[in-house]
Amino acid sequence: MAVMKIHEMSRDERLDFLKKAAGVSNIEEMLRPLSFDDANMMVENAIGSMSVPMGIATNFVINGKELLIPMAIEEPSVIAAASKAAKIAKINGGFTAEAGESLMIGQVQVVSARKSAIQKILKNKKQLLAIANSKSRSIVAVDLQVRHLRDKSPNKIGNMLVVEIVVDTKDAMGANAINTMCEAIAPQVAEITEGEVVLKVLSNYATKRIVRCKAVFDKEELGGSEIVKRILFAYALAHSDVYRAVTNNKGVMNGIDAVALATGQDFRAIEAGAHAYAARDGTYRSLTKWRRTKEGDLAGEIELPLAVGIVGGIINVHPTAKLAIMILGAKSAKELAMAMAATGLAQNLAAIRALSAEGIQAGHMRLHGRKFGK
Ligand code: MEV
Repeated sequence: MAVMKIHEMSRDERLDFLKKAAGVSNIEEMLRPLSFDDANMMVENAIGSMSVPMGIATNFVINGKELLIPMAIEEPSVIAAASKAAKIAKINGGFTAEAGESLMIGQVQVVSARKSAIQKILKNKKQLLAIANSKSRSIVAVDLQVRHLRDKSPNKIGNMLVVEIVVDTKDAMGANAINTMCEAIAPQVAEITEGEVVLKVLSNYATKRIVRCKAVFDKEELGGSEIVKRILFAYALAHSDVYRAVTNNKGVMNGIDAVALATGQDFRAIEAGAHAYAARDGTYRSLTKWRRTKEGDLAGEIELPLAVGIVGGIINVHPTAKLAIMILGAKSAKELAMAMAATGLAQNLAAIRALSAEGIQAGHMRLHGRKFGK
């Protein structure tokens, strides 16, 4: 099948193949760099734009569907390694993934509030949600909660309340809408609590937007049961030691960030949320988990928050981001999130397999000798 041989194609052949696969006729046009005018509209004091290579990872089967994964990254070997790992996963049916609803939290911080403020806020929940919802047609604030928080800062400036709206951002990442909603309810919150509102902003710790993905990797394809054992030792280090966990998760993020960059996501938000989640039990650990199956194969899983969107933000402005979403065929934010999680898992497998076997430098050399990643 042509998709398996994309690395043998010329650029024109790749573009022709993608035109058919993704149904995009003006692919060359969509791959054009941002114009200065576009860049100038997006940031201040613009001088141009910075381009990064974009390639396609192949062999991905996610929930039974074959996908082409666009990845924007400057680092060699990452795309080939993801493709190779996905090829091994395919033997056992590929990746199985699930993603939660697109629920995000927006926070309004209140200081110097009255004692009865929590009850008063809850009493006015409906009215506050209505104010928030007057700000968006598609994105909906579905719930509101309030927490009392102790000031743990060295300044001990004072305890506070945090009013949190839960917002269903649907297929958008939703940051702007949530921030607008938080700002909209702020005056009312101040009045109800008789306190002072300080911050009003979304939380990038998207713990209600969790994505899970798993796959089983054939032991023979990985290099045999000795390699599986060595990978489990590698995982043991990544679970037990922060110095290894950070590097391990850097490998995971090689995959996730590359898809994020290609599809125009806020990768800083994704990174911040992912690393906080990696430390959710109080110790920073691997974002992936690995175990041996009873057949002796290697089963892997990844779980992390992914606040991503297929509408809004840079996707409306950057034709290449739009193209990447078309190539991926993501019809929802959830589908995009699942593809990103699968790419992160594949990337981690490829890295720890190489590290547990020949070493990453030797592995890269092999890759550039074109013996790997086909
Ligand atoms: C290099 O970009 C990523 C790795 O260091 C990840 C890892 O060590 O697992 C190879």
